[in-house]
Amino acid sequence: MILQAKNLSKSFKSPEKVTVLADVSLEAEAGESIAICGRSGEGKTTLLHILGTLEKPDSGELSIGGTSVTPFNGAELRRKKIGFVFQSYNLLEDFTTLENILMPARIARRPLDQKRALALLDEVGLLDRAHFQAKLLSGGEKQRAAIARALCNDPDLLLADEPTGNLDRATARQIGEILIASAKKRNKTLILVTHDQELAALCTRRYTLAGGLLNKLL
Ligand SMILES: Nc1ncnc2c1ncn2[C@@H]1O[C@H](COP(=O)(O)OP(=O)(O)O)[C@@H](O)[C@H]1O
Ligand SMILES: [Mg+2]
Repeated sequence: MILQAKNLSKSFKSPEKVTVLADVSLEAEAGESIAICGRSGEGKTTLLHILGTLEKPDSGELSIGGTSVTPFNGAELRRKKIGFVFQSYNLLEDFTTLENILMPARIARRPLDQKRALALLDEVGLLDRAHFQAKLLSGGEKQRAAIARALCNDPDLLLADEPTGNLDRATARQIGEILIASAKKRNKTLILVTHDQELAALCTRRYTLAGGLLNKLL
């Protein structure tokens, strides 16, 4: 099992207590793609951050790749096993596309595998932009770079938060297909949050998040 989340809950005090996640359980195997849909403010980003060990739940259990997440191993599990794709790309704008792909390895002080990074850029159709500064890329190109960056470390789990949310429809479709295909080809687990019905339809399982609960869609 790549991901096992049991009875997660999360509230914020802002200043009144708001329960964002009431009781959320989710399991995912290698090769599955899961779409989580839901209205703005229902807690999709919060859930994705908890699954990605970026935020702590108030209660519940989470394991990644069979290892239970604790306050001590979250960062390491995240570095080794999880890749993130964000709605707003989160590239370093003054660095080149290639440098952005290699940034997670650089930060983790791992050896830089330039050949692998270039192969990933080729796979997402961005090889001819390898040496462009990220700020010169279009939205679709930035998201392709972000997908290559998320894959560079060969993570078991890919988490994507509204990955097509800032893109026009045609580009969104293209990026959605690249994301799904790149995960499927490697037998990775993909969990994405989206408003995009076309993208959700490409996933192997779909849920809505509402009132702090996940409901499976048939
Ligand atoms: N750090 C925080 N402190 C207080 N409230 C927060 C915090 N993060 C998110 N929230 C609130 O939790 C709710 C869910 O937010 P979010 O997970 O971003 O929803 P979504 O991604 O579905 O739009 C929102 O009402 C938001 O204002
Ligand atoms: Mg969100």
